[in-house]
Amino acid sequence: MKKTDRIFIAGHNGLVGSSILELLKKRGFKNLITVNRKKLDLRKFNDVVKYFKKRKIDYMVMAAARAGGIIANSSNQKEFFLDNIEIQNSLLKLAHEKKIKRTIFLGTSCIYPKFSKTPISEESLLTGTLEKTNQCYAIAKIAGIKLCEALHDDYKQDIICLMPTNVYGERDNFSKINGHVIPAMISKFEEAKKKGLGNVKLLGTGKPLREFIHSRDLAMAIFTCLKVKKALLNKKFDFKLPILNVGTKEEISIKNLSQLIKKYIGYRGKIKFDKSSPDGTYRKNLNSDKIINLGWSPQISFKDGLKEVIDNRKK
Ligand SMILES: NC(=O)c1ccc[n+]([C@@H]2O[C@H](COP(=O)([O-])OP(=O)(O)OC[C@H]3O[C@@H](n4cnc5c(N)ncnc54)[C@H](OP(=O)(O)O)[C@@H]3O)[C@@H](O)[C@H]2O)c1
Repeated sequence: MKKTDRIFIAGHNGLVGSSILELLKKRGFKNLITVNRKKLDLRKFNDVVKYFKKRKIDYMVMAAARAGGIIANSSNQKEFFLDNIEIQNSLLKLAHEKKIKRTIFLGTSCIYPKFSKTPISEESLLTGTLEKTNQCYAIAKIAGIKLCEALHDDYKQDIICLMPTNVYGERDNFSKINGHVIPAMISKFEEAKKKGLGNVKLLGTGKPLREFIHSRDLAMAIFTCLKVKKALLNKKFDFKLPILNVGTKEEISIKNLSQLIKKYIGYRGKIKFDKSSPDGTYRKNLNSDKIINLGWSPQISFKDGLKEVIDNRKK
């Protein structure tokens, strides 16, 4: 990989896309290609082809998607299904037509069956029933992996599929309704503190366990995969499409997470769990040995990363 290579970061304004953009800038990459959604809707393949007709791309990071928490997922199933399928179809067809040297496809740990043996290995894919609250999102992402596999096996297209655990970081969506668990919780506690409310109501029982990765650690995982030599991949993955989990091995219960956020925000009221709302999968910690064997490892401890996100919002 050269500092002059042309790297397209799809979804560069999002949580993950903005972190990889920042990292590549810091590392001195000079030809980073970004385009706002208003200018180019990535669901529209013909527009995508037209936009890139005279633009060369060497590498592509697919960080554009419709993503969100449990409520956003279960109440917008059609959008989570179609948007993700359409975006990834456009981008993967583009990778194929423009003979992009390497593409990083971003999936999710939601692709694995609800009752997978933990820590979940990549081999668990398609071995059981999915969690209902996010199955449209998961099935769209599985379709993306299968298209990557087809392009890789039939056309030797160089693609690496990453399956990150839950991501958090500064440029997250802090909506109380549509956000993922951490940003939604932070917003609820911040609002309760500001308004002097006596309690904060959270969804579910608080019992599920979750593994979280800071978006800067995920950006390093993406960078590791952009750089890794093809010969090493072929050797390690026996010429098969590399599918790699990206997690930290650190787990925390939703209840303990809420207590940490409460403490870092300085809220003094009570936490109430609405046990009538869904919990999602009970436990989905990942086995990330494959990417660790490629030389990546997480650097940000969960407590430090979470505190940094909350402290930076106070500034
Ligand atoms: N966040 C997580 O916990 C998590 C966990 C596992 C995997 N992932 C995966 O990681 C990837 C990045 O997620 P994220 O959390 O960074 O998502 P995000 O913050 O919601 O960012 C998504 C980006 O995609 C862009 N986008 C969405 N629809 C588009 C369209 N039709 N045309 C052009 N751009 C479009 C958005 O543009 P705007 O800025 O204009 O809205 C945004 O920049 C996704 O593939 C996601 O599935 C995320």
